[in-house]
Amino acid sequence: MHDTSAMRARVTSAFEERFGEPSALVARAPGRVNLIGEHTDYNDGFVLPMAIDRAVWIALRPRTDRHVSLHSLDFDQTVDIDLDALTHAGGGWAEYVRGVAWSLAQAGHAPVHGWEGVMAGDIPLGAGLSSSAALELAAARAFAGVDGMAWQPAGMARVAQRAENGWVGVKCGIMDQMISASGRAGHALLIDCRSLETRAVPLPPATSVVILDTGTRRGLVDSAYNERRAQCEAAAAWFGVPALRDVDAETFARRAHELDPDTRRRARHVITENARTLRAADALERGDAAEVGWLMDESHRSLRDDFEVSREELDTIVALARSHPGCHGARMTGAGFGGCAVALVDADAARALAEDVSHRYGAAFGHTPAVYVCVAADGASLEGLDLMTGRTA
Ligand code: GLA
Repeated sequence: MHDTSAMRARVTSAFEERFGEPSALVARAPGRVNLIGEHTDYNDGFVLPMAIDRAVWIALRPRTDRHVSLHSLDFDQTVDIDLDALTHAGGGWAEYVRGVAWSLAQAGHAPVHGWEGVMAGDIPLGAGLSSSAALELAAARAFAGVDGMAWQPAGMARVAQRAENGWVGVKCGIMDQMISASGRAGHALLIDCRSLETRAVPLPPATSVVILDTGTRRGLVDSAYNERRAQCEAAAAWFGVPALRDVDAETFARRAHELDPDTRRRARHVITENARTLRAADALERGDAAEVGWLMDESHRSLRDDFEVSREELDTIVALARSHPGCHGARMTGAGFGGCAVALVDADAARALAEDVSHRYGAAFGHTPAVYVCVAADGASLEGLDLMTGRTA
């Protein structure tokens, strides 16, 4: 298992070294892996991700002025943000922090106090494991903490999503922010992306979730992602409904032949994926790893053939994982075009599978994939002195 306490110690000791006293607060927000329900969130549909035991950590203390000064240990860079003069400043990680300050103000919760601190993370960057959502939620916890604002996970997920959509300029859905805000240890979370209602479902006993990173990165993803979104919106409009979530399998089967082939395949993915996701949540609840695995396999096929967001490396790593005896199911995870696959595996087979897939993938593509055997973690947290009541939170 991955050692999360080492990350906490890393930011708290760096804080103490820098500021000469212990930090008042420690904010943490996790990355995520999606078990099933891909490209459904922006169709008001269902997703089933879990927060992982890799996170962004910020050790901090409030300031008396309205500046945020944050040092990133990973980038060895300190950024100063004037909360009274928010402007874009050349991209990079600090845009996510600025974006959250901007978005809080848009939502009527303009930050009152500044803060200063040290940040570090152990979510691989650009791998599709939501390091940016984690940074947004860690920053949101920091702002909320210094201002003594009550923490509402779904509301803060919306704030973070708006930061990403409106400030950073990435048109993502709500899944990554929701799971980073609301994850639950030992559980995956079925999220209704329309109502933001959640249902925590336990992971099957004696199984492990294994993330396999192809090492390929998304490249052209933004234009392709936006194109898929537009195709889904056009399909929903054609059916005369607000979102593809509102088209049931029967209506689709009756009218599919009237659609042009591309739109038909995109819509079929979303409609069948929503059904698979609901089924997978029920199967998880029953501890039926075999059924969840089968649904994951089907999801991959649909993403590959109908939604067309896979690629050779993802297909290969999924097939390699799948051919291993202890594997219940495997699929690409996240936006696609590169990044990671996820597999549901018998816990006692996880190590062997990781080694076997690494070896065979390495032989095929010339580089060894990173493999993370993950544990489902809690969503964003804040520990330390409650600055409103003076009590330890
Ligand atoms: C990215 C986006 C999410 C979601 C997935 C695809 O991770 O950030 O909102 O759309 O792609 O399921």
